[in-house]
Amino acid sequence: MGGSTVEPVVRESVGSAPGNLAIASLARTLRCVECGHETRLEVHQSCPACLGPLAVTYDLSTLRGSVPSDRLSGRPRSIGRFAELLPPLSLPWSARLDLETTPLRPAPRLAEWLGVETVWLKDDTVLPTGSFKDRPASVAVAFAAAQGHRAVGCASTGNLAAATARAAVRASLPCFVFVPAGLPDSKLDPVRQFGGQIVEVEGPYDVANRVANLAAEAAGIGVVNITLRPYYTEGSKTLALETFEALGWNPPDAIALPLGSGALLAATERAISQLREIGWIPSGPGPALLGSQPDGCAPIADAFDAGSDEIVPVEHPRTIAESLAIGDPGSGYEALRAIRASRGAADSPTSEEVIAAIRALARTEGIWVEPAAGTVIATLRRLREAGTVRRQDRVVAFLTGAGWKISHAVALSRVGSAPIHLDPVHPDLSQLHVGPRPEALGGAE
Ligand SMILES: Cc1ncc(COP(=O)(O)O)c(C=O)c1O
Ligand SMILES: [Zn+2]
Repeated sequence: MGGSTVEPVVRESVGSAPGNLAIASLARTLRCVECGHETRLEVHQSCPACLGPLAVTYDLSTLRGSVPSDRLSGRPRSIGRFAELLPPLSLPWSARLDLETTPLRPAPRLAEWLGVETVWLKDDTVLPTGSFKDRPASVAVAFAAAQGHRAVGCASTGNLAAATARAAVRASLPCFVFVPAGLPDSKLDPVRQFGGQIVEVEGPYDVANRVANLAAEAAGIGVVNITLRPYYTEGSKTLALETFEALGWNPPDAIALPLGSGALLAATERAISQLREIGWIPSGPGPALLGSQPDGCAPIADAFDAGSDEIVPVEHPRTIAESLAIGDPGSGYEALRAIRASRGAADSPTSEEVIAAIRALARTEGIWVEPAAGTVIATLRRLREAGTVRRQDRVVAFLTGAGWKISHAVALSRVGSAPIHLDPVHPDLSQLHVGPRPEALGGAE
């Protein structure tokens, strides 16, 4: 072959992959949530007039009154299923960055532990990098790639770092993740494997966020949760959209979910109001949004408790729920307003309560979550005890992160019985206590 190498022929098939339908986005503009100023769907991190947060607006008239099962039939079970309600993502990029629909699991045994009749768990622990952040990262990176960005990045407490690095691989873009120094390997190893560049910044998350902001301006990096924030937050809507579809468009009484920057909760509220606008769910009192922050970093929950409109940043977050250690929440005001408008609540359980909730969930339903999701279960228990959640309520909890992401936390690894050591030659099997046979499940055998 004359010394030259022969490259294998790789056919670009993403645009024509079966099941990837071209569904047009109904997004129209970016609008400031504070002053209403409107701009085109371009890369703007905040309102050019008042620096307020921007949200994508939609013209949903063509969907109004449509029948969801007609509209959605034949579509792939993935976030692209709801393309009308997402930013415009050109087909090759959205196909490459698509994510499969995650399960909504009935949880009768956890419901018993909580003292509630009906609980479902939206299980995002099964996403490729083990947290719901794969959703906003996929949407933002697809948008960045379509806009011709040459690099992407994020500021992260860990989960978004892995999700953005993975999405960057799918989009063939370099990735820079700005993180507080000292994050555990369980959070950074995926970034290394995906070939992302880790940029450690001394100080808490908010300082890493500021440095990422500078890098975005100086180096032209599309930082998903800063310069691409309006598109990033739209990705988080898909958790709610999938949940409502799985419930047959019959809304639950409450949705419990974690609060970090507040973006997931604000996105959930937008999803609900858009579904109401097109008539896929009834208008009228909707699900109460129950937001949860750990007690060592609870600026939104504290404002809620105080009946205040002011969110006071927490300078030095101290919590085992590292993913939620965001002292100055970027979407905090939107989240606070959405909680109040839904007649919901915000709450801040202690680390002990979070650990107990993680264990209860693991032992009742066999799902192992990280503390961010543990706070949600702990909050449900507390709000049930306080009477805010009623026994007869139908409740959904968003499980946003998998337990293996944070098994390093000493407080968490103390859970469980000590290992039994057996001699390989004369194993003393009397140490193994198996106990009685469990009752057969209804319908089994
Ligand atoms: C597992 C997990 N759950 C919840 C959140 C909070 O999400 P948001 O920042 O959108 O409020 C985060 C944020 O990092 C997270 O990693
Ligand atoms: Zn504005």
